[in-house]
Amino acid sequence: MKKLQSEELKKIRDLIQLKSGISIKEKKFEIIHRKKIEKLISEEGYSDFKTFYHDIVYNRKPELIQKLYNIVTINETYFFRENEHFRILTEKILPEINSIRPKGETINILSAPCSTGEEVYSILIQLLEENRLIKERDFMLLGIDIDSQVIKEAKKGVYTESSMRNTPEKIKSRYFKNAGNLYHIDKKLKDSVSFENVNVLDRYKMKKLGKFDVIFSRNMLIYFEENVRKEVIANFYSMLKSDGYLILSHVERIPESIQLFKKIKIGNSIIYKKNS
Ligand SMILES: C[S@@+](CC[C@H](N)C(=O)[O-])C[C@H]1O[C@@H](n2cnc3c(N)ncnc32)[C@H](O)[C@@H]1O
Repeated sequence: MKKLQSEELKKIRDLIQLKSGISIKEKKFEIIHRKKIEKLISEEGYSDFKTFYHDIVYNRKPELIQKLYNIVTINETYFFRENEHFRILTEKILPEINSIRPKGETINILSAPCSTGEEVYSILIQLLEENRLIKERDFMLLGIDIDSQVIKEAKKGVYTESSMRNTPEKIKSRYFKNAGNLYHIDKKLKDSVSFENVNVLDRYKMKKLGKFDVIFSRNMLIYFEENVRKEVIANFYSMLKSDGYLILSHVERIPESIQLFKKIKIGNSIIYKKNS
């Protein structure tokens, strides 16, 4: 397979943006992803761009677009990233939700996107450390991501030092087994959470996930254009139960024009409560 032309790369870039929301500047896309995409095309046995492209557009080989997603996603994450959110979860959000939900109803928490799972496990560890809520309620913790490779890693639950950079020693020794320079999350924790490969723009699959009390969506919307951000936020709104909360990262905000949520400032964080 010969070198891809700039227009061909642009076609792939545009297709990825359309289907995933991930928006990457043309030049940057060429510099960072050209080699990997050319390698993918030849490894998949294509001798020309057109057939490869058509197989994706007409969905003849669904695994191709998945492989492209896995190439372009940025999966940076670590345990207890933006730590204040986890404290707010157990000090404010969950006690409030616990007091209004019928007895016996499970509290559902979604991490969209979860990358390699650190965010989901951080939520669970926070609940275990707080210890009171988890005795009173059942919790369902689900992480989703468009990248199928990170979902596999999340299910494995094995982490490097870099993922642990914000994790106190006592938490490391309580919930991880240290082998060499890797940290294996306790099997009991692994068995208490779920992970699924889902694109947040796939409305059908998103709806099938059900309704949630809290949605964490941190450090994904920054990669989307404004119109896609609005679409995803509106979809999160419809997936939240009444009085549910949406938590974005510190660098993300809900545009003022969207009046679906009440903005609440706690410490250095802004969290969003669903307007009923
Ligand atoms: C930087 S990570 C953030 C992970 C974690 N929430 C955190 O804040 O540490 C961004 C993740 O968003 C995922 N992502 C990007 N577009 C997505 C989409 N359309 N649907 C689901 N996940 C997506 C990427 O695969 C990547 O793993």
